[in-house]
Amino acid sequence: MSLLRRGRVELKTPAQIRAMRASGLVTASALAAARAALAPGARAASVDAAAEAAIRAAGAAPNFLGYDGYPASVCFSANDVVVHGIPGEQVARVGDIVSIDCGAVLDGWHSDAAVTLAVGEVDPRSEVLIEVTRAALWDGIAAFARAQHVGEIGAAIEASVRAAEPSFGILREYVGHGIGSAMHMAPDVVNFASRERGPRVRPGLVLAIEPMVVEGSTATSVDADGWTVRTVDAARAAHWEHTVARTEGGIWVLTEPDGGAAELALRGIDPAPA
Ligand code: MF3
Ligand code: CO
Repeated sequence: MSLLRRGRVELKTPAQIRAMRASGLVTASALAAARAALAPGARAASVDAAAEAAIRAAGAAPNFLGYDGYPASVCFSANDVVVHGIPGEQVARVGDIVSIDCGAVLDGWHSDAAVTLAVGEVDPRSEVLIEVTRAALWDGIAAFARAQHVGEIGAAIEASVRAAEPSFGILREYVGHGIGSAMHMAPDVVNFASRERGPRVRPGLVLAIEPMVVEGSTATSVDADGWTVRTVDAARAAHWEHTVARTEGGIWVLTEPDGGAAELALRGIDPAPA
């Protein structure tokens, strides 16, 4: 989403975090269905339909559909599209990289997650872009486990990208966000080091952390459809996202089936379910 969402932060009880976990698992299943549908020759609209079917089969609803008039259940953002691409008649081709962003609402609780996937074999630089962005997400998630203030997450994401590939750019106008009884809530979660420390991190804080990284310039424009965000220089972009809760004992990655166990273990952290 775009900047700037200030105001009160909604803190969740452990029972509410468990309800958000149920929503997060629906979003994870929808992304798995979308991933299975994303083959060379697949239409974007078919990927959207697969994700929507998984969400509805779980008794949930797609929270993107109808959001500010958004016409689909996922965002399908290929190559130079950074985020918010509308799935339609585009066809996935070998060599493309596609961000699929998806969310669900279950019992009033929202979740939001995204992956960037390679379609068949892609050029080595695109593989690096995908992996650097994915690692930056997990480094940001790991920072959330120990952070005193939300700003530490963005600092960790920027440090991660810079250390891996200094030539990549990080978008600044599009940021992560609080999430819970609505999809987009306070606070903003920027993906770069900032002088603003941000709100204090407390148990019950739930954030959608979502770095957006580009191969070239961070300048973007929005298509005439009012949604599709593209790089001006037509260089490629990657985007990864998870919904993550801070609990009494640490963090719990609500949109990852293992709660984050595998990736967090690499960073010396165990997930702490509510
Ligand atoms: N993860 C996206 C974001 O936070 C969700 C976009 S929902 C849409 O910006 F409906 F606006 F597409
Ligand atoms: Co989001």
